[in-house]
Amino acid sequence: MIISIDGPSGSGKEKIAKYIAKKYKLYHLDSGMLYRRITFLILKNKIDINKKNHIKKFLKDLKHISAKKHKNLRTEIISKATSKIAKNKEIRNFINYQQKIIVKDMLKSYKGCVIDGRDIGSNVFKNAKIKLFITVSAKIRAKRRHKQLIEQGEKSIYSRILKGIILRDKTDKKREISPLVVPINAIYIDNSLDFKNTISQVNQVLEKKL
Ligand code: C5P
Repeated sequence: MIISIDGPSGSGKEKIAKYIAKKYKLYHLDSGMLYRRITFLILKNKIDINKKNHIKKFLKDLKHISAKKHKNLRTEIISKATSKIAKNKEIRNFINYQQKIIVKDMLKSYKGCVIDGRDIGSNVFKNAKIKLFITVSAKIRAKRRHKQLIEQGEKSIYSRILKGIILRDKTDKKREISPLVVPINAIYIDNSLDFKNTISQVNQVLEKKL
C-alpha cells in the first residue's frame, strides 16, 4: 500500500508523512532527501551537470544513494542548489529508480510506504492508493521557515526566505520533466492553520479510504 504526499517546498509534507507512518506503522520515504544528498555529492565532487558524460559516469559509480535524513542537507544553500539539479533528466531517472528499489525492499517488512515529494503521485508511484496534495501560501511557508531558522540560532531575513521559496516553487512547477503538479485524484490538505487542524483533515481522508 502506497500513500503519496506531494506539495511545494516547506508545505509540511514531511511532518504529515511522519504522522501517517507512525500511526499506521508504514515506512516513510522522503524523496527530497535523495535529491538533497545527490546535490551535496555533486557539489562536493565538483561534477559539471551540464556535461552528460560526467553525470552518467558519476551516477554509474554511485550505484546507490541513501535516504537517511541529515540536518546538514536542509541548509538554504543545498535547498537552492537542489531545485536546479532536480531539473536534470539523468538525475531524476536515477532517483526514481532508487525510490522503486527502496520501496520494494521496505515492502518486505512494512505493510506500506508513505512517500513525500513533488512528483510521487503524478509520476513515480501513479498506483498510490491515496494521493495527498498539501497547500499553504508562500508567505506562511516563509514565515514558518524564518521562525525555524531564528530558533536554530541561524541568521535569517524574512524577505530573502520568501524570495527563495517563490523561486523554488517556480523552478519546481515550470521544469520540463516531472514538474510539481496536482496528481489526478489527489485530495487537497490545507496546512495553513495549526497542525491539529491539518491532522484532522488527514484523518478524515484516511478513515474513509483505508
Ligand atoms: O522536499 P524537499 O524540499 O526536501 O526537496 C528538495 C528539492 O528536491 C525540491 O525543491 C525539488 O526541486 C526536488 N524534489 C523533486 N522531486 C521530488 C522531491 C524533491 O524535484 N520528488
